[in-house]
Amino acid sequence: MTVILAAGDFDFTEEAPAKINLALHVTGRRADGYHLLDMLVTFARHGDRLGFRVSEYDELSLSGSFSPLLAEADAGGNLVLKARDLLRQAAHAAGFEAPPVHIHLEKNLPIASGIGGGSADAAATLRGLTQLWALTVPSDTVMTIALKLGADVPMCLVSRPLIARGIGETIELLPDFPSFAMVLGNPLVGVSTPEVFRLLARKDNPPLALPSQAPNDHAQWIGAIKRLRNDLEPPARMLCNEIATLSQLIESQGALTTRMSGSGATCFGLFDHLEQATAAAASLHSIRPDWYFQATETIKGET
Ligand code: C5P
Repeated sequence: MTVILAAGDFDFTEEAPAKINLALHVTGRRADGYHLLDMLVTFARHGDRLGFRVSEYDELSLSGSFSPLLAEADAGGNLVLKARDLLRQAAHAAGFEAPPVHIHLEKNLPIASGIGGGSADAAATLRGLTQLWALTVPSDTVMTIALKLGADVPMCLVSRPLIARGIGETIELLPDFPSFAMVLGNPLVGVSTPEVFRLLARKDNPPLALPSQAPNDHAQWIGAIKRLRNDLEPPARMLCNEIATLSQLIESQGALTTRMSGSGATCFGLFDHLEQATAAAASLHSIRPDWYFQATETIKGET
């Protein structure tokens, strides 16, 4: 059952947009085992939604197509609660006692799917509670909390087209980045991120090579994206046979380019227009009604 959040029920609502790795290059490894990455990232207009209100006691309620799975796995929900608790601790350290809150999570994104659902939810929780509690915690502190929650949470806090380096903590915004029409597809098979990293053949691949002169239109960006890679796609395909089929299916709908996001299994296809992406998603849904397909547009960079 999908319950759409009624904005009036909450003091604040926050979007938690799907994070799309247009490219992900694994360039090295840190002493603690975490991999160094170069990522070209954008965000979809489609995602989870969260609502926040002051309450008598702390509470998390769930709705949305993927909330039953979340209740079982408890993954993204836990990240929301961890974000709430870490922000409350930071407020306490600054001399403010944050009151109990009711958080509602409308879970529209598949779980453990490479498009950052749990990370986006955690980031939206940090944004929403900062407003609800009227906190004046420095943005550096919020970024530090975000990184503690997960490598993708800082970029989800920003939720704008960007390049992320390191494990995701070094962020460069792309103000002129265009919007793309896109189909997201997922075979509803979870892929373990540590397992995908473990199966990487090489951990010292060439970095993201963008033209020295940033592309200045949609077509040039498509050309540049086509020349990039997701280094996690080959090991993810070893763990999940469905990724190859999914990618071929999206490509067969006329996508300009198709790639896996994050550690999978979600794949995206880029299209010129939203109408084409919408038609492709409908056709894909009729071919594989048991899989997840969603047409969307990505968010434009802002100057
Ligand atoms: O940060 P996150 O919780 O998403 O990472 C999940 C796991 O993926 C980590 O515990 C680690 O095994 C692996 N990982 C990695 N290098 C990264 C990000 C994640 O090895 N940059």
